Amino acid sequence: MSISVAVLENIVREAGSIALSYFKNLDNVGVIKKSPRDLVTDADVAVEAYLKQALAEAYPEYGFWGEESGQSDNQTNRWIVDPIDGTHSFAKGQYFWSISVALEIAGELVAGSVYAPALDDLYLAIKGQGATKNGKAIHASDETSLANSMIATGFACLRSYLVENNLKRFCRIAEQTMGQRRLGSAAMDLCLVADGQVDAFWEQELNLYDVAAGALIVKEAGGTVTDFKGNDGVFPKQILATNGGILKELLPLM
Ligand code: IPD
Ligand code: CA
Ligand code: CA
Repeated sequence: MSISVAVLENIVREAGSIALSYFKNLDNVGVIKKSPRDLVTDADVAVEAYLKQALAEAYPEYGFWGEESGQSDNQTNRWIVDPIDGTHSFAKGQYFWSISVALEIAGELVAGSVYAPALDDLYLAIKGQGATKNGKAIHASDETSLANSMIATGFACLRSYLVENNLKRFCRIAEQTMGQRRLGSAAMDLCLVADGQVDAFWEQELNLYDVAAGALIVKEAGGTVTDFKGNDGVFPKQILATNGGILKELLPLM
């Protein structure tokens, strides 16, 4: 069954308005710690409950995997959902957080949308049909020099108390680049690569729901998605997304 862009966009936008209703009332939003460095809010739970119900109504034949509610029976053809990516940013009242929805059919990512409600930017891709931001085609940057690049990363590794973490890698690469960003939503970081706003993004220790939609959007925007050794594919524990032009220079530093 083909996915309707309009249906997917409407569902994601409605999820965004639910999230914003909490975002505008943060003093009354419950926040709990899933672990010492990992939060979940009432908004995460409410947005995921809406997405689960709306996607099941529109596409009853597909299963569901959400960060907060877990996996339904059908995990062959499934929606992969992060209801709020960047929950810590959300809870602090910052604008850089997003809703990430991807559809995986028999192991292949075929549709994805990442929506940043506080910025009102909606990224979307259908496999083989390119990537868009607010309905307009987007493409990764044409930068070919690492020295002129802006890169983005994150530190999920520190949340997991990894000894082999990203700190040394970040310093090694930062010294070779023009600009560096840690913005707080991996799903959105990937969309910035797709939109040419940053030239590469990498992070360790993520989960598929953080990256599934953003990875498809990067690929459909002409970027690359690999592991830290350059193997093609979506590896949430070691994801590297680039514009393609700086991949060769970046890999030895990873
Ligand atoms: C987090 C964001 C952040 C990344 C964290 C993720 P969450 O997602 O994507 O950028 O560095 O590791 O867990 O937990 O807010 O959904
Ligand atoms: Ca996430
Ligand atoms: Ca989340």
